Amino acid sequence: MKNKTVWANRLKEKTSVSFQKIGSSIGVDKRLYEQDITASIVHTKMLVKQKIISSNEGAKIINGLKKIKSQIEKGNFKFQDKFEDIHLNIEKKLYELIGPTAGFLHTARSRNDQVVTDFKLWIKKSSRETIGNIISLMKILLKKAEKNVDTVMPGLTHLKNAQPISFAHYLLSYFEMFKRDIKRFENNIKLLDECPLGSAALAGTSYKIDRNYTSKQLGFKKPTNNSIDSVADRDFAVDFLYASALCAMHLSRLAEDFIIYNSNAFNLISFDDSMLTGSSIMPQKKNPDPAELIRGRVSLNYGNLNSILTIMKGLPMSYFKDLQDDKKLVFDGYDALNDSLILSIELINSVKPNKKSMLKMANEGYTTATDFADYLVKEKKLTFREAYVISAKLVNYAEKKNKLLIDLSLKEIMKIYKNIDKKVLKIFDVNNSMNSKRSYGGTSIANVKMMIRKYKKEMK
Ligand code: ARG
Repeated sequence: MKNKTVWANRLKEKTSVSFQKIGSSIGVDKRLYEQDITASIVHTKMLVKQKIISSNEGAKIINGLKKIKSQIEKGNFKFQDKFEDIHLNIEKKLYELIGPTAGFLHTARSRNDQVVTDFKLWIKKSSRETIGNIISLMKILLKKAEKNVDTVMPGLTHLKNAQPISFAHYLLSYFEMFKRDIKRFENNIKLLDECPLGSAALAGTSYKIDRNYTSKQLGFKKPTNNSIDSVADRDFAVDFLYASALCAMHLSRLAEDFIIYNSNAFNLISFDDSMLTGSSIMPQKKNPDPAELIRGRVSLNYGNLNSILTIMKGLPMSYFKDLQDDKKLVFDGYDALNDSLILSIELINSVKPNKKSMLKMANEGYTTATDFADYLVKEKKLTFREAYVISAKLVNYAEKKNKLLIDLSLKEIMKIYKNIDKKVLKIFDVNNSMNSKRSYGGTSIANVKMMIRKYKKEMK
């Protein structure tokens, strides 16, 4: 029994070598060993409790499973392609250790419910680990933001200078995105929290099993309601990959911002040398390779998501071997995202704003033109559209004279709009502009400080 495939009596010929190479998933699904053994132990306890097997047999099986776990953890377990996957590798090893009693373990279950149970347990655990890494990243963002509440930088739209903003406010925009990423993982944890074990191949089982018991013991909220759905769907894996892809996309945007801000043209931030590489030919170079990898890696997450959606599309009910590849996609997605998260934490930590360049660039591109229009609306009772036209004329004038708005004299401004006094001059100060944005969620120092206090409380 221990050396033959389970189906050797039915299938007379040996498995084709090329099929074994592709069909065996042990190289991938061995990552489920812990969940598989945990679920098997709970299943065995339930079989004993329900008097489906004797307590003596149950004890033997559980002992054997524990031994297997420690063998795997010590690196003493030989995973074999010919036994296909983690489930059968463990079952075969159990035969080796305890003999024919091992044959009781697979009573009232199938690999179809077994694999989904393991997979859900793995995704729950890994979602929590991912959330942990996102939280660490948010803490670094918050730390950087705290030090840069009054650091003025040019806010950009269309990559053109738009309005002066606080560097902290910019960083905290990502804080909000990552907060939602966490919620997406949490939502999935809640949605998948039903235990499929006991659904067997697809129809359920005639044994008097206790699914409430196994569900509870494995930390699920309740057993699944429909045995066919239980073995056939992988929506929880799709959700995991979607949440991962979105989070990786947010990291990619942050990395791209940093790459642009670090460019010679912008020169707004620098990185520690540990986050840079040199060039093999150009001696002067310091390239932001880590940021570029983070920017690009999201492609793996998109690929995984697209692949799993395609596997699921049009798949008839219920279980098919197509589903076996779900695990490679999820494991790869998890690895890609968490590598990027860990690297991003270091990257953000190493960012230093070049405050002088930020201030200089915040003054360029007529970034206070809107403030001037707003001033005319508030002080001169013009409509916004009238004020917009006057401000545009002022910008045209400054452009012609090759001057910043802040460098215009009162006399020059009065050429464009007569009825004005020197109070207007402070309107062109970028600090003043930033601080005037006091609407909820805006970039004023007071607002940003308030948000930081709020976030710090939330993070506790
Ligand atoms: N390794 C298989 C998978 O991941 C386990 C389920 C196999 N079930 C089957 N009926 N062939 O999907």
